[in-house]
Amino acid sequence: MTQFSLPDYTLTSDQVPLVPSLSLPEVQRQQLKSEIKAQLKALDAALVAHYYVAGDIQELAEETGGCVSDSLEMARFGRDHPAQTLIVSGVRFMGETAKILSPEKQVFMPTLNAECSLDLGCPPEAFAEFIDQHADRTVVVYANTSARVKALADWVVTSSCALEIITALDRAGEKILWAPDQHLGGYIQNQTKADMLLWSGACVVHEEFKTQALEDMRRVYPDAGVLVHPESPAGVIELADAVGSTSAIINAARELPNKEFIVATDRGIFHKLRQLNPDKVFIEAPTAGDGATCRSCAHCPWMAMNELKCLNRVLGDAIYRAQNEIHIDSSIAERARLPLDRMLGFKA
Ligand code: 13P
Ligand code: SF4
Repeated sequence: MTQFSLPDYTLTSDQVPLVPSLSLPEVQRQQLKSEIKAQLKALDAALVAHYYVAGDIQELAEETGGCVSDSLEMARFGRDHPAQTLIVSGVRFMGETAKILSPEKQVFMPTLNAECSLDLGCPPEAFAEFIDQHADRTVVVYANTSARVKALADWVVTSSCALEIITALDRAGEKILWAPDQHLGGYIQNQTKADMLLWSGACVVHEEFKTQALEDMRRVYPDAGVLVHPESPAGVIELADAVGSTSAIINAARELPNKEFIVATDRGIFHKLRQLNPDKVFIEAPTAGDGATCRSCAHCPWMAMNELKCLNRVLGDAIYRAQNEIHIDSSIAERARLPLDRMLGFKA
């Protein structure tokens, strides 16, 4: 394996906003939900949401003919849906991906401030230099990147398809330059033994899961299955019964025989896990323990910005909506589309 030393692109805690914890009274929630349904209809818009956003928003997406899914299926759904207006509830790279794949559609988000630490930790200029230094490598970037970074890549992958795509590239004899998530990259490198040079970004949420505390928790719940998103540190992944994307975690919870699960990913996923498995118990993997910083405590601060009030505002207030529309320079979008199309067209 090639070793290369890069600056540390892990975000410091002051770069990560505090998780908002707005909890509205039931009457107000229901009122907002019925307004949002009417507004979606009036705008003929489809709501595309990620499993990490608030349960109310996930329900709204499903009840109005939109979708709730992992980042790969969000991209596919937005591209294939006939609506000319998409409301993407997730983080910015998800809105950008929808726009790149459907330049003719208008794509809005409840707030464009919903970032992702992996995207922020991979500045396009520095990444372009990194690529120039390793021109012999095939550039594979995680979907959690800006349009400008995607425009520098040969392939885009999500955690649903990364293993298969890297396996195919490795079999074809290609050496990989991977960015930005060092943990997902390390996991794939370990599984495939591919020659991968890794950027040093990290997800501020998954990085907080603690190996020792997880081992201690397993002693308390010896029958629990452990489900882990591969953005987590290697020690946490090693303890997993199933490792994979958000949809892979949801599938594993249904298929494995365990009645209890310890889950190492954003806690927004518990809404769908509990909805689909009312007879099973889901426990948050620990973020406390040695070296704990727990700035986000297993809840992505940017996903949490997707509040009902913002969603209501982006639909009902034309000025706010215009401020939260995704725009991407057409030359960047056209170039970024190539690796995205490659990913969506890939067959193992
Ligand atoms: P998935 O592609 O597994 O939905 O993950 C997206 C993400 O941002 C995980 O933190
Ligand atoms: Fe990005 Fe992590 Fe939030 Fe996912 S959970 S959007 S990887 S910061």
